[in-house]
Amino acid sequence: MSNNGATAIAIDGPAAAGKTVVGTRLAKKIGYRFLDTGMMYRAATVAALDANADFDDVEQLAKAVENIDIEARSGAEGDTLIFINGVDITPRLRSHDVDSRVSVVSAIPRVREIMVDAQRKLASGGGIVMVGRDIGTVVLTNAEYKIYLTATLETRAERRFIEMKDRPGQPPLEDVLAVMRRRDDIDSSREASPLRPADDAIILETDDLTVEQVVCRLTDIAKGVTS
Ligand code: C5P
Repeated sequence: MSNNGATAIAIDGPAAAGKTVVGTRLAKKIGYRFLDTGMMYRAATVAALDANADFDDVEQLAKAVENIDIEARSGAEGDTLIFINGVDITPRLRSHDVDSRVSVVSAIPRVREIMVDAQRKLASGGGIVMVGRDIGTVVLTNAEYKIYLTATLETRAERRFIEMKDRPGQPPLEDVLAVMRRRDDIDSSREASPLRPADDAIILETDDLTVEQVVCRLTDIAKGVTS
């Protein structure tokens, strides 16, 4: 399998560990591009929902993803925007419905194959911060730096709850926590590219750190500053 990642920083970790907010800011600071690969798997889930696929049927789910064109582009803030067949579907990607189904779709090997291929193409120009679950272990095994961001389930569920609290139909904290626990379980126990730190990853526990502190630490790492 081809591999790249010559000038890439891989950031992996469970849901709501802070990968996206930290990764976007880090990329801006060091002049790299940013790609949130979770958004691609979320888009695959939207495609399956739109195709009315049966979520117990792997073939149907894979077909729904094979039949569309998913494109990731950078937004004005360096954030990731996703287009399906040329239409920007980014606002739909963070719904509770997608949250609760995305791990089923992302566990399908054919879906991962399509996504990993696209991710490696996007990284081939170098200078990229890529965040996800398998970036350091599978997608960019040659990345300059591999970071694994984590925090307890409770901290992460609270963060996600606060982030979504003004949205209509916001579920209670217990539901956010339950969906996150299930997602963590599926993501780390699946056969295809399970969530785990790469052997050479730097592990950062963020429970007691502010976003700014994590960004500073990662900027130092990216600049080769040791502490
Ligand atoms: O990072 P985010 O929470 O948006 O990711 C959504 C889901 O996409 C994860 O729970 C996981 O199932 C899947 N994912 C993955 N591999 C990645 C990124 C995300 O399997 N590289």
